[in-house]
Amino acid sequence: METRMPRVLPPATTIAAPLALAFLLLSLLSGPSSAWRPWPSLRHRPNATTVDLTLGNSKKFEGSSEFVKMKYHMGPVLTANITVHIIWYGNWARQQKKIIREFLGSISATGARHPSIAEWWKVVQLYTDQTGANISRTVLLGQEKNDRFYSHGKSLTRLSMQSVIKSAVTASTKPLPIEPRNGLYLVLTSEDVYAQDLCNNVCGYHYFTFPSIVGYTLPYAWVGNSAKLCPGVCAYPFAVPDYMPGLKPLKAPNGDVGVDGMVSVIGHELAEMASNPLANAWYAGQDPSFPVEIADLCEGIYGTGGGGSYTGQMMEDGGGATYNMNGVRRKFLVQWVWNHVVSYCSGPNALDQSV
Ligand SMILES: *[C@@H]1O[C@H](CO)[C@@H](O)[C@H](O)[C@H]1NC(C)=O
Ligand SMILES: *[C@@H]1O[C@H](CO)[C@@H](O)[C@H](O)[C@H]1NC(C)=O
Ligand SMILES: *[C@@H]1O[C@H](CO)[C@@H](O)[C@H](O)[C@H]1NC(C)=O
Repeated sequence: METRMPRVLPPATTIAAPLALAFLLLSLLSGPSSAWRPWPSLRHRPNATTVDLTLGNSKKFEGSSEFVKMKYHMGPVLTANITVHIIWYGNWARQQKKIIREFLGSISATGARHPSIAEWWKVVQLYTDQTGANISRTVLLGQEKNDRFYSHGKSLTRLSMQSVIKSAVTASTKPLPIEPRNGLYLVLTSEDVYAQDLCNNVCGYHYFTFPSIVGYTLPYAWVGNSAKLCPGVCAYPFAVPDYMPGLKPLKAPNGDVGVDGMVSVIGHELAEMASNPLANAWYAGQDPSFPVEIADLCEGIYGTGGGGSYTGQMMEDGGGATYNMNGVRRKFLVQWVWNHVVSYCSGPNALDQSV
């Protein structure tokens, strides 16, 4: 089959170059700071940011740093076939669901063009458990549950998120299956739902359910559609924050700013759930309540040279939309993840690395 290199954008043309450079210099001069970061921080990590590590300590970008000690803490990782069960909370259009399903369906697919989502997952597969077993290459789309009528309201706390999952696994008709070993539960909230901390630097998170609430310990993640509330925070670079006027948003590959933005956050949370499902396996940092996990280290990095305020080299499709990986039928923009073998962020679209 014919292999054609897609057009690669030269560095810093996708974000306004002078502005990016100014931010970069500013940050170098003023030392570590997270306030100016144009991309979302997916959790509260006051003392550890990619930026600090990238700009403060290292010679190379893409997050590389001898100061990052990604450590295994002896807990389980997901080595058996992974099944992702989705809870669609609120109002979801068919087309939106389709984009997300096709992203998930591309993780284990064979046959997508290089650079592919499946090749991206290979970096996640580099993580092993105590027995040396790797994270599974197989990620299957499981069952889906619609929670169309906002069973727990339009404003969800971290605890009520668990109640949403409880409702889905105990529903009287077609409950989601209980699979504590290899099931992952993904709560996706529509753009009219506020979830605790959304926009306040949080676009998604993962944890596990408490038996006292749900009856089981199930790894789960929440990712919200930020299109209405804060796309500049959670759907960057398809929307830009208000404090960066003059920066032009990039065109989203599937024409839906909120959902295209969610795809990368879903990828982030899946990579972390697979490598740290019970918060006792792979993470860096001293404080287990603020773990720095394999996707945290590479937030905002989508290509070669990424780091600081620069996303790295991405690609542009025929219609002018920006992406960095191919799914089976669609293109997506997905952040890279930490490769602990080489100690930097890796992705399939790297120009100077082989995964
Ligand atoms: C972050 O650093 C500050 C001051 O250095 C300290 O007071 C705080 O406890 C740290 N937070 C975490 C989560 O480590
Ligand atoms: C895991 O998934 C593969 C397909 O990717 C399938 O062939 C295999 O039978 C599955 N294994 C189990 C234990 O379900
Ligand atoms: C499993 O992990 C080890 C250690 O990171 C790596 O060398 C090996 O290539 C991985 N195997 C697969 C199939 O990903």
